[in-house]
Amino acid sequence: MPAKNLYVATILVLASLSWGCAPSESGDHGALDAFVIVAGDAEADSWSLDGDVQDLGADAGVDAEAPPIGYASPEYCGSCHQSHYEQWRGSMHAYAVKDPVFRAMNTKGIAETDGRLDQFCVQCHAPVASLKNMLPVIERDGVKTMDLDLENPFVGHGVQCVTCHSIESVEGTQNAQFTLSEQTYFGATGSAAANEAHPVQRSALFADPAQKSILCGTCHDVLNPNGARLEATFSEWYANAYNAPRDPSRHRTCQDCHMPTYQGRITRDGPVKELHAHTFVGVDQALIPGFPGKEEQARLVRQLLQDCAILEVRNNGLDDDGNLVLVASVENINNGHNLPSGSTADRQVWVHLRVTDQAGDLLFESGMLDANGDLMDGVEGHSLTPGGDPDLLFFGQFIYGQDGAHVTFPWQAHTYTDNLLGPGQRKWRDYTIAGDALLGQTVRVTASLNYRTFPPFLIRTLVDDGLIGPDELEPVPIIEMERVETSFVVR
Ligand code: HEC
Ligand code: HEC
Ligand code: HEC
Ligand code: HEC
Ligand code: HEC
Repeated sequence: MPAKNLYVATILVLASLSWGCAPSESGDHGALDAFVIVAGDAEADSWSLDGDVQDLGADAGVDAEAPPIGYASPEYCGSCHQSHYEQWRGSMHAYAVKDPVFRAMNTKGIAETDGRLDQFCVQCHAPVASLKNMLPVIERDGVKTMDLDLENPFVGHGVQCVTCHSIESVEGTQNAQFTLSEQTYFGATGSAAANEAHPVQRSALFADPAQKSILCGTCHDVLNPNGARLEATFSEWYANAYNAPRDPSRHRTCQDCHMPTYQGRITRDGPVKELHAHTFVGVDQALIPGFPGKEEQARLVRQLLQDCAILEVRNNGLDDDGNLVLVASVENINNGHNLPSGSTADRQVWVHLRVTDQAGDLLFESGMLDANGDLMDGVEGHSLTPGGDPDLLFFGQFIYGQDGAHVTFPWQAHTYTDNLLGPGQRKWRDYTIAGDALLGQTVRVTASLNYRTFPPFLIRTLVDDGLIGPDELEPVPIIEMERVETSFVVR
């Protein structure tokens, strides 16, 4: 297969030229060969293998020489663990470096900090490559930058099988403080059957309900280099009622909600047993064409979001001044942490409320978008009319630079303020609708609770900087989590 050999040669050359420390220094290229065997099977498109795993299995699977521990690509693992591979490759863990927004931000952050950001972002988004010193900061045209070469499977595959399954110990539940083993993999049982296929030990980080969330927490809490806490999903979970290891009826780990169990085969010929979904459904979905399993991921995201909040609108009647008072409340349910959580400086959760009169004319509106699609959240630069929606009910985070002014990107933040919903928490606000002639009228109220992963102003900044192509990204969807429609006679 000449094409395959060409590909192999390219990888080897690139590896020796630019990836600081090649994985194998013994000169036999054992480690490199290992991942090349697998990458070479997908000549045209090394990561989005649209071909079925069945073929790959016959080709590169059981018969292929096993790569050294810690150097296997997901395709290699997937040659036996097909359903795990299929699910993982449509997940946000597989998207962590392919994500054009992440790539653009990493480039911008490294340039803006003159390289000081270094491994900070990639230590979580491309942990294997970062730990193997494959992602040096380089200088091009006098600007510091980092090449995130998607053809290199350790880079392109982001948070991959050998990331989680090689975690030997977790030193801290933030900023990727973990150690990867090159001696063995880890799992929940370390069974004899598994050890016939590859070394795998039982680890409490996979098996013990009191420790399982720590495996996730090592990346799912982010303190930026300025000391600003930008993500706190693990801490939020740790401090709430779902963290109750002594009370199994209440205790819910990250895995319980994000890796639900199903019956399936761990390998093609294995027995049917209880497995754990590797879809890692959250709020995010791929915004690039051709990412595997997009429709399914989008469906699962919608389902998760439609099941984790309650929106209510109450009519409080007329106040002393004759204005109609409505109260909207939002409650966060079935959720082990805040809503939103994670990269809350990007996330937007808000109530869009419209009140019309008998004739259908608009009496009041809040939570509408401006001509650019932005919310009028009061911040200069976010929307065309920052003060245009003083009643906006918004859940998210604002970040500020050293001088206290609003900033947009994670490395720029020194402090923050936020309005988030804790697990089980309910928050509300009053809307005062002025109108002297409302008494006796029938008014109609429609309200929706919406979720969006990125605001248009953020994407616009990266497009204007030339870091994302104008048509590279599909539009960020707005997901309607809840909807209320009601009408009543004003009294
Ligand atoms: C040659 C086939 C094959 C390949 C390739 C393979 N595995 Fe496995 N793996 C197995 C078998 C067989 C089992 C045991 C199945 C059973 O328990 O029924 C297993 C079990 C596991 C388990 C469960 C162990 C436990 O403690 O519960 C994990 C985790 C695992 N493999 C991870 C991986 C990872 C990560 C890779 C890639 C680095 C990989 N496997 C590659 C065949 C394979
Ligand atoms: C009781 C179920 C439950 C538990 C436990 C749970 N989650 Fe979630 N998670 C959800 C739901 C529901 C959402 C969607 C709503 C949201 O974003 O908060 C979600 C969303 C997320 C998101 C995307 C957040 C955003 O808004 O951008 C991440 C990341 C996440 N979870 C990680 C974790 C981690 C890590 C843990 C363990 C420390 C965990 N989850 C525990 C239910 C759960
Ligand atoms: C984000 C971390 C993470 C990534 C990435 C990941 N896994 Fe897992 N995997 C887990 C955890 C945690 C469990 C155990 C879940 C439990 O028992 O509660 C698990 C369980 C397994 C099992 C045992 C069977 C089961 O379903 O419980 C296999 C096999 C496996 N993973 C293979 C893979 C393969 C193959 C990949 C890459 C395609 C992969 N994993 C990627 C965290 C991960
Ligand atoms: C090595 C670091 C790392 C570990 C360990 C890790 N994650 Fe993640 N996770 C990430 C990164 C980075 C992303 C964001 C990827 C992206 O969208 O760019 C992510 C995304 C997610 C999402 C999707 C969030 C969304 O907005 O849709 C969920 C859910 C999730 N992780 C759950 C888990 C669970 C559960 C575990 C533990 C079994 C875990 N993660 C372990 C780094 C990690
Ligand atoms: C400690 C681990 C960690 C570090 C360090 C980290 N991230 Fe993340 N990042 C995550 C996790 C986990 C998520 C998923 C959170 C969520 O979905 O809400 C995430 C999500 C994101 C997202 C949203 C992805 C999407 O498509 O929705 C972007 C963009 C992002 N990170 C950029 C960065 C940048 C830029 C840096 C460096 C300044 C950085 N991250 C540093 C762990 C990390």
